[in-house]
Amino acid sequence: MSENVVITRAEGVLEIRLDRPEKKNALTRAMYDAIADAFVLVDADPTLRVALLTGTGDAFTSGNDITDFQSRGNSGRSSASRFLPTISSMQKPLIAAVNGAAVGVGTTMLAHCDLIVAARSARFVMPFTGLGLVPEAASSLLFPRLLGNQRASALLLLGEPLDAETAFQWGFVNRVVDDVALMETARDMARRLAALPPQAVRLTKRLIRHGAPDVAGRMEEELALFRERLDSPEAKEAFTAFMEKRKPDFSRFT
Ligand code: COA
Repeated sequence: MSENVVITRAEGVLEIRLDRPEKKNALTRAMYDAIADAFVLVDADPTLRVALLTGTGDAFTSGNDITDFQSRGNSGRSSASRFLPTISSMQKPLIAAVNGAAVGVGTTMLAHCDLIVAARSARFVMPFTGLGLVPEAASSLLFPRLLGNQRASALLLLGEPLDAETAFQWGFVNRVVDDVALMETARDMARRLAALPPQAVRLTKRLIRHGAPDVAGRMEEELALFRERLDSPEAKEAFTAFMEKRKPDFSRFT
């Protein structure tokens, strides 16, 4: 349970809403756990057919809470270490309705969603290198596969933002709609999925996703590096600069 994740159910669809708008829906450990619990519930409950994930306010999510990164300590488990394997192994379909900024894990988690509707305000950014970090959620495998090495490098190496229209042209999202139409479009998609024969839907998802048996291994590899990087002087400078609202200075690092 987390007070920052709102869960509602209707017509076989479990809607999961990130609800911490004052921090642009930055994800705390409690939020990751609440979303992972909701995914497990969808798979376990025969009356649920589809999960739909979205965010309150003008951001989908600004990614991992940076203060959580700072306070996690050397031995602590990473906040997302249960969330990521859970999202990537979900059996029932997951739809994302992306409003505004989707930063870091806000974008990498989308590689594990089956259908993505983007509002025109959606903006996808993976600023890992700028934070002294490396990619996660098998994004270092899935984005080159989906978009090609050059586009993936612009996103993951340079941390260039991707707007909704370009994301659609690149085949990363299914639909781009006006912000006011976002939820109705995503809910309509969810209801259509929920009306289909559930076993056929689950088997088809499994066939699509099993094209990527190497995802779990890459996630582990990334996570080991990610944990090391969280304690690196480069990352510490990046996190401190973010909290102090200044530009980070990496000039002293070799
Ligand atoms: N972790 C912790 N706090 C965050 C956060 C995060 N990931 N993202 C935003 N916040 C906080 C800000 O510190 C600010 O807090 P304050 O009001 O106490 O000062 C508040 O949320 C609003 O954010 P702000 O930056 O003022 O909003 P904006 O509309 O100008 O920009 C973003 C929105 C999402 C583009 C910007 O907040 C951002 O880039 N966040 C960091 C994203 C990031 O690097 N995530 C980690 C990825 S691995």
